[in-house]
Amino acid sequence: MSTTGRAFRAARAAASPAIPSPNIWTWPEIYEWENCAQDPDGAIWEALREVVPWEGRDVVDVGCGDGFHLPLFAGARSVTGVEPHPPLVARARSAGRPDVRVLEGGAAALPLPGASVDLVHARTAYFFGRGCGPGLDEAQRVLRPGGAIAIVDLDATVPPYGDWMRADLPRYRPDAVEAFFAAQAFSLRRIATAWRFPDRATRDAVLRIEFSRAVAERAIDATVGLEIPVGYRLHVRRTGLVRSDQ
Ligand SMILES: C[S@@+](CC[C@H](N)C(=O)[O-])C[C@H]1O[C@@H](n2cnc3c(N)ncnc32)[C@H](O)[C@@H]1O
Repeated sequence: MSTTGRAFRAARAAASPAIPSPNIWTWPEIYEWENCAQDPDGAIWEALREVVPWEGRDVVDVGCGDGFHLPLFAGARSVTGVEPHPPLVARARSAGRPDVRVLEGGAAALPLPGASVDLVHARTAYFFGRGCGPGLDEAQRVLRPGGAIAIVDLDATVPPYGDWMRADLPRYRPDAVEAFFAAQAFSLRRIATAWRFPDRATRDAVLRIEFSRAVAERAIDATVGLEIPVGYRLHVRRTGLVRSDQ
């Protein structure tokens, strides 16, 4: 990459710092329980595999947190996690997962060469709608022709979890977020899943790191068993379609 290109990306990285993620930054152990509870029947993975099969391909997981999902890309030629929060980079590396590497960096300046991966995956990280244009451009840069970017996020239109999300984020507009991705030429698939917990203590601890105190207590009161319906959105875009100016 040219000196000008490097300087441009460094400036963009500085202008797009890590988005604070109190759940996993403050309580990584409880967040790992959350990841264990998510999608117990593998519906998200089934949808991903159908739309963007990764066998024999080079995969990067942007905003990989503690790397929980990296080993699930089994069969890929290479798996790289990119994460901006240094304690999580250390945690991901200390898991000693074979066949994956973890690099420190953010979505707006990926520490990867151009045209070097086939799938950019991001799950509940950075790509939340308007404002994520620099990350979309970076994904385009690192993708080879024929590659794809796959964004997995929570579907705030699906109760009860979506209702709790919107109670805490009254200005969050699911329709605006979906319109943003549609305008960027992403497809949308809605995925019905559940979070399934081993016991009430785990369930309540997870709800308490996801919501304000009032909303968490409301969610706990409203939840009878150990399973909570949670909807996800999967947005996918192939390379070479558009560049973002958002
Ligand atoms: C809710 S966590 C999800 C972590 C992981 N994807 C998972 O599903 O377990 C959001 C992650 O996005 C990371 N993040 C925040 N700002 C980012 C940025 N600018 N670029 C890439 N990742 C970012 C956070 O540090 C955090 O690890």
